Amino acid sequence: MQLDFTEEHEMIRQAARDFARNQLLPGVIERDNHQKFPADEIKMMGELGLMGMMVNPKYGGGGMDTISYVLAMEEISKIDASASVCMSVNNSLVCWGIESFASEELKMRYLPDLTAGRKIGAFCLSEPEAGSDATSQRTTALDMGDHYLLNGTKNWITNGNSASVYIVIAQTDVDKGHRGINAFIVERDWPGFQVGKKEDKMGIRGSDTHSIMFTDVKVPKSHRIGEDGFGFKFAMKVLSGGRIGIAAQALGIASGAYELSVQYARERKAFGTEIMNHQAIQFKLADMATEIEAARLLCLKAAWLKDQHLDYDSASAQAKLFASSVAMKVTTEAVQVHGGYGYVKEYHVERLMRDAKITQIYEGTSEVQRIVIARSLYK
Ligand code: CAA
Repeated sequence: MQLDFTEEHEMIRQAARDFARNQLLPGVIERDNHQKFPADEIKMMGELGLMGMMVNPKYGGGGMDTISYVLAMEEISKIDASASVCMSVNNSLVCWGIESFASEELKMRYLPDLTAGRKIGAFCLSEPEAGSDATSQRTTALDMGDHYLLNGTKNWITNGNSASVYIVIAQTDVDKGHRGINAFIVERDWPGFQVGKKEDKMGIRGSDTHSIMFTDVKVPKSHRIGEDGFGFKFAMKVLSGGRIGIAAQALGIASGAYELSVQYARERKAFGTEIMNHQAIQFKLADMATEIEAARLLCLKAAWLKDQHLDYDSASAQAKLFASSVAMKVTTEAVQVHGGYGYVKEYHVERLMRDAKITQIYEGTSEVQRIVIARSLYK
């Protein structure tokens, strides 16, 4: 695995960093306060090539590698994890899922708008009674000959109200268990599609999370992704890549909190000197820097394996498990370094601490990542 970056990688990282500082930072506290989705900013991210980074240019994508994606995700997440989760779902669950497994017709129909940020995608797997236990799907898609009839409810859907293209996982044959699950592309304006309740969340408050209801939605046969019964494996494969994005998001949240802590420790004086000169603070910063570097290396390793077309299921689970735990630890310590200022919104670290928590929950909880890692040990 190469540890140095190419000139192109550095350019992508710098472009994402500049965008985050210039366009995302100014409104990030207000969006968090008012649960406002960064709609204009996401459009700009599409124009910059951040919404379909790994997609082949023939479908409008950037044709970049997964390392570039990790670098950009880290920079965006340092400033605004609500924007970065939208970016992550669109890139790795929706665009990558469609490009890797959908028909040519579906790729041509959906990818150009999704990669350009003209449309946003959502991934509908979780249900009120199917979170970690993803095979327990209650949403059904009945085979009616030339179409499927979709009924059910999905919960905690990221981009729930801002998306217009939804990948929906549903049970087509209960008797077949996970082999009777399929994945479909569903459009928001089809009859019977309804966006439900918006969740009032602890963190990533700028991201819009909704339930979605389907009542007799007619889904054309051609909108099924892959062979009949491929839906659960599709979801697992897509989530393996998605976990690299969320690991990079956790990494960015941690490194954003760390950078703010270093800056604060250089400026804030106590007991006659900058607090940077106190060993109590130095040791905290040393631990933060070390853990962040370890998380970064796990993210890059998972990305590198994916780029080499090697098995990355366990590596992406390890990256997400570790980076999300680092994000929680580092952001909590960042609030401590900031003292009372860390507890107020103006200094950003309290938001980063709230945002960090979800990285241990979505795209598979830390416990699910341990299942994936443990199973790979005795494969
Ligand atoms: N690739 C291909 N196939 C896979 C696979 C993978 N990575 N992982 C599992 N499979 C296959 C298995 O081989 C098996 O197939 P066979 O029977 O033919 O061998 C089949 O899938 C079932 O696998 P398991 O027996 O391992 O299934 P399980 O019921 O034990 O569940 C689990 C495994 C890892 C816990 C899985 O259910 C899981 O990942 N749960 C978490 C779901 C999740 O991450 N949800 C996130 C929602 S999306 C989201 O959060 C987006 C967002 O908002 C940001």
